[in-house]
Amino acid sequence: MTCLPEWSALLAHCEKTHGISLNEIFSADPERGTRYLLKTSGITADFSRNHITGETIDLLVKLAEARDLAGWRTRLFGGDKINNTENRAVLHTALRASGETPVMVDGHDVMPEIKHLQQRMEIFCNDVKNGIWTGATGKPIIDIVNIGIGGSDLGPRLTAKALANYVTGPRAHFVANADAADLFGVLRKINPETALFVVVSKTFTTQETLLNANSARKWLSEKLGEKAVARHFVAVSANTGAASDFGISAGNIFPMWDWTGGRFSLWSSVGLAVAISIGWDSFRKLLDGAAAMDEHFLTAPFEHNMPVMLALTGIWYRNFRGSQCHAVLPYSEKLRELPRYLQQLEMESNGKYVTREGEKIDYATAPAVIGECGTIGQHSFHQWLHQGTGVVTCDFIGIREDDSGKHEHHKVLLANLVAQAEALKKGRPSGNPHRSNPGDRPSTILWLDRLDPFCLGQLLALYEHKVFVQGIVWGINSFDQWGVELGKELARLEMESKP
Ligand code: F6P
Repeated sequence: MTCLPEWSALLAHCEKTHGISLNEIFSADPERGTRYLLKTSGITADFSRNHITGETIDLLVKLAEARDLAGWRTRLFGGDKINNTENRAVLHTALRASGETPVMVDGHDVMPEIKHLQQRMEIFCNDVKNGIWTGATGKPIIDIVNIGIGGSDLGPRLTAKALANYVTGPRAHFVANADAADLFGVLRKINPETALFVVVSKTFTTQETLLNANSARKWLSEKLGEKAVARHFVAVSANTGAASDFGISAGNIFPMWDWTGGRFSLWSSVGLAVAISIGWDSFRKLLDGAAAMDEHFLTAPFEHNMPVMLALTGIWYRNFRGSQCHAVLPYSEKLRELPRYLQQLEMESNGKYVTREGEKIDYATAPAVIGECGTIGQHSFHQWLHQGTGVVTCDFIGIREDDSGKHEHHKVLLANLVAQAEALKKGRPSGNPHRSNPGDRPSTILWLDRLDPFCLGQLLALYEHKVFVQGIVWGINSFDQWGVELGKELARLEMESKP
């Protein structure tokens, strides 16, 4: 890839523009604060505080074209087996599509089975919410416990917290860690008679999840008897055989397919616990928001395409301006889980050292992703953002509409968000070097109109497509995660070697 003329052109452009600061870029182009905005029906992205000009965008777009981004995008949406190391299609976009367009995998339209599963989920959500599905003693369900890890936890956990205002059904709890403190911390707070466990594991072989599910089942059957398990446990898995071996009847297993990657699976039956908690209508709006971003990604020209520009700006800094770290800074308590969710999405997808064909890569791929809720991070690691020695790219995420009714709090939050982006950009010289802020540090602001299911769906799909675009430019298979297997095997051996 580094031999491509488009790559060399970017290197030359980087050299030519080296040393031109953001303050100078703004002075030369005072309108850029309004011109470097991209909008969808729920998000406005402000790219103005990045070291990019029209020429930079042109060159980055040319690189994306040279990597056949449009062709790969068609393959993604069309159900081609682009996850080549596992010979799988990658179809999280089909899970949120609402039209009648068929999506073929191996000559077979997957849309009817998706629709059928969604109908089952909707009925189940309504039954639990309306007390038609009860626990073994006839009491309605008050607490849902999602037991899963990685993609079977992070997306549902983030969504449940982000959409707390939309909860109409039972409360959702999340258990992921093998540490007993996690599971038993939740069990202490709930009543077995009114609890429903959703065991979520695509493979149904994940050690932590099976450990927690077995301990939860033991806890429940000690209190209500083994027969009660049928009313208090459901499973989500692509390995329905293993889920039924665990003791969950076929009617209580919600399937998923091998073409849904774990970290892209919120939109599938993996979202069941959230869907029960916020209700099917809100869950459908989440899917619709993601579908709206899919449509934007499919149709907007690259230079006006939000995921493409987010990805290419990241590549500009990572591959040409030496950034090693990316900070995700949501100025919203409800989006507190976003950095953790994006760590898996970005680093598990693109933390790779070989190309799709298995050749060693000689350029940087995914940066480290860190993050924290604004304003909390300001009082911990923002010092490093302002005066540290490395280049860190920052995504600030703000929510325009105040849903708290506490105007003063919202005002403080947004004032701080803008102040941080400005301070990073402007800096402040001082005669005392300790007090000097060098500035000239890039950031992008993503403004959500409001934190509702539709906008959240858009935001998460935006990042999914960003990761996809970066993977295509880097020539990576973003949809496998072979690197984690060795640790799993060694843990198993370690377990077996201990009495
Ligand atoms: O170990 C990594 C991983 O495979 C993730 O990709 C996945 O999201 C997580 O484990 C959980 O996997 P499963 O849903 O199969 O339990």
